[in-house]
Amino acid sequence: MSAMDDEFDVVAAWTEEAARALGPGHAVPAGCRGSGSLGSLRWLADRLDLRPGARLVDSGSGVGGPAAWLAGDRQVQPVCVEPMVGAVHASRRLFGLPTVLGAAQALPLADRTADGAWCLGVLCTTDDKAGALAELHRVLVPGGRLGLLVFVQDGPLHAPAPEGNVFPSSAELTTQLAEAGFAVRERAVADLHDNPHEWADAADAVEAEVERRHGDDARWARAQEQSGRMGTLLGSGDLEPLLVVAQRSA
Ligand SMILES: C[S@@+](CC[C@H](N)C(=O)[O-])C[C@H]1O[C@@H](n2cnc3c(N)ncnc32)[C@H](O)[C@@H]1O
Repeated sequence: MSAMDDEFDVVAAWTEEAARALGPGHAVPAGCRGSGSLGSLRWLADRLDLRPGARLVDSGSGVGGPAAWLAGDRQVQPVCVEPMVGAVHASRRLFGLPTVLGAAQALPLADRTADGAWCLGVLCTTDDKAGALAELHRVLVPGGRLGLLVFVQDGPLHAPAPEGNVFPSSAELTTQLAEAGFAVRERAVADLHDNPHEWADAADAVEAEVERRHGDDARWARAQEQSGRMGTLLGSGDLEPLLVVAQRSA
């Protein structure tokens, strides 16, 4: 098993278990842990032009916290796609989200069926960014909007990257979006610490419960090493969390 399996599969299943044990109010914040903050999710949601009932594809949806928050806050209908079985189960069972096992590069969805899409913290975990963007272009309706959270690297990294991650530069990301048929409408650097304290406390409580249950497991240590590396690179400014809203060509 790779460190990414530990982080995105095993810990997803453990997060489900702990969020369930701690009860209401814990699942959404815990399910967003691997992603943007509440402020980043709002920033994207405000710009995706989604009406109630719209269908939004979440590519690489993880445990499902962001899609569950969006469904509740904006009354949209998310369809989630995620390659890790533990995360797919968590998304279905914690939030009842329609979630299919699949990869961003082969979305199991028909052409032009999504009113909007987002892909949060996923492009950095895959080599084939062009394939993932091409699939998002295929499933979106013409003019549909795409929200991205991408960790970009515009200079050298002064500490080790999490295993399996490949960070684009901001210029590469712009080029990849243009080549896939997207026009960038807006971009901003995210503040990943803008969560309300109840939200942060709930996410921390779930993490502490996972550690209490599984802290002796080597897979927990490997997953912690992965997120620790990410934290170091973000803290030093070697990586920047970029939010982008782009529009699919007509
Ligand atoms: C940092 S997590 C973010 C999860 C979720 N988007 C969120 O914001 O909470 C990255 C996710 O991308 C998924 N992932 C990795 N490679 C992928 C691929 N090729 N296609 C789709 N998802 C992928 C991982 O399994 C993991 O769930």
